[in-house]
Amino acid sequence: MTDPAARTQDALATAAALRADRPDWWRDAVYYTVYPRSFADGNGDGIGDLPGLTSRLDHLVDLGVDAVWLGAFYRSPMVDGGYDVADHTDVDPEFGTLADFDAMTAAAHERGLKVTIDVIPNHVSDQHPWFVEALTAAPGSPARERFIFCDGRGPGGDEPPNNWVACFGGSAWARVPDGQWYLHLFTPQQPDLNWENPEVVAEYDRVLRFWLNRGVDGLRVDVAHGMAKPNPLRDMTIFPEPGQPRVAEDPRLDQDGVHEHLRGFRRVLDTYPGTMAVGEVWVESDERLARYVRPDELHLTFNFKLVEAEWGAAAYRAAIDGSLRAMADVGAPCSWVLTNHDIPRPVTRYGDGDIELGRRRARAAALVQLSLPGSVYLYQGDELGLDNVDDLPVEALRDPTWENSGHTVRGRDGVRVPIPWSGDAPPYGFGGADTWLPMPTRWAGLTAEAQAADADSTLSLHRRALEIRRASPQLGRGTLTWLDSPADVLAYRCAAEGHPDIEVWLNSSADSIAPPSAATPLLASGPLGANGSIPPDTAAWFLGPDPR
Ligand code: NOJ
Ligand code: CA
Repeated sequence: MTDPAARTQDALATAAALRADRPDWWRDAVYYTVYPRSFADGNGDGIGDLPGLTSRLDHLVDLGVDAVWLGAFYRSPMVDGGYDVADHTDVDPEFGTLADFDAMTAAAHERGLKVTIDVIPNHVSDQHPWFVEALTAAPGSPARERFIFCDGRGPGGDEPPNNWVACFGGSAWARVPDGQWYLHLFTPQQPDLNWENPEVVAEYDRVLRFWLNRGVDGLRVDVAHGMAKPNPLRDMTIFPEPGQPRVAEDPRLDQDGVHEHLRGFRRVLDTYPGTMAVGEVWVESDERLARYVRPDELHLTFNFKLVEAEWGAAAYRAAIDGSLRAMADVGAPCSWVLTNHDIPRPVTRYGDGDIELGRRRARAAALVQLSLPGSVYLYQGDELGLDNVDDLPVEALRDPTWENSGHTVRGRDGVRVPIPWSGDAPPYGFGGADTWLPMPTRWAGLTAEAQAADADSTLSLHRRALEIRRASPQLGRGTLTWLDSPADVLAYRCAAEGHPDIEVWLNSSADSIAPPSAATPLLASGPLGANGSIPPDTAAWFLGPDPR
């Protein structure tokens, strides 16, 4: 038998070779977001896990993506779906073991897929040994200095230190028995770390290297804009709704101090050639966002502008234009996002209560997203055209937003329902029958198996789009030029030296429009009309004349 240490060395060599091939692979990569609880269940307990993911990697290969972004899978009490980390260098038993992680990484690399993972630096779980220690330690002790403990305001310090609210609702402060308060931007079980403390910086250096030494190709930095807090901790003046993370003038987030911490991450990554980091950054302006991807900071940062845009040509154009301009100023590519495990699915957002309309629009949006210059983040199930499950029984809800908002905001469970793989009834080949969130009977026709056999399915559309994108430097690696177009129509040219242009048209008007002249249809999100006309709620790619 091969010595396991030697096998590990081989695996690392494979990973490094894959990256060395093209160290800036991330600039136009298509990432597939895996929410581990809901992707595939390998041991039949109804919860997705790492062996389940490994067993389904061929789905990603057949789809044609370049990389996986694997959501939090660390040891956790699961108060916030694993984003409350008790041990950042171990796998939660629900998801498997470190050996399962290594096996998954090796299997992904053998298939040419890069593996990127979450890093959660803003907070830990209240079950993390550091916080357990802080609770028994005295005010002002080194153990408390790793967190943000303060005395309260008012008589007896009975009022929280300031008026901050938590992102999931309620106050951002919780009181401990000796009277001090600690800061938690998310649930009370997620105390914020104090990044001004060198021990915190050193611990994350260790965490990053732990995973990079296991061969991961990149990181997704959770709440990257939260790692620094203002001094003094000034009050908020604008209060977002629970579950709505983005506001302007929010002293809780996007403080200038975060950039120095992110530079520290970059210095570590630079010692592992070809690795990358993408930041989760919710800020108001494109210019503020661009600051996170200056040359010595993160490689990418999610562009959430398409998430925030209403459906339609005008909003899309503004979102795309602003993002491209701001990123070009710092030499970074955009990273296009339509949804993820925190955001309602496009089918539901765009449908106004009509799933079929929503699906038509979501398919069109996917062709826009997959044509744009830069990288793309798909979310599991979007390639199947899944809709949100917004009628989950309240007793099934797990998102802490539901409790913390006083049962006014249901939260994100509707976008986290397990993936339907095969068969015609729940659990649709996901794994154990008792899935952690119930799966709807209406998904019977939407399984990966059913859609693979249907050339017109949303899965087939994504496969074909990714196949064309991979073969076409105009898409992802090209430059975008806007074209004149009628009202409510988005039209642009994607160009790359020596290749025919690809024109992308999105019709969000109420009438069919004529196709561009001198261009042949390559792919459309729905059937084109007579003479290639583009019906409402449809996008299409057209190939221009050969430049030679
Ligand atoms: C963003 C993650 O994607 C989300 O799921 C989590 O609840 C928050 N950050 C807090 O970690
Ligand atoms: Ca399982």
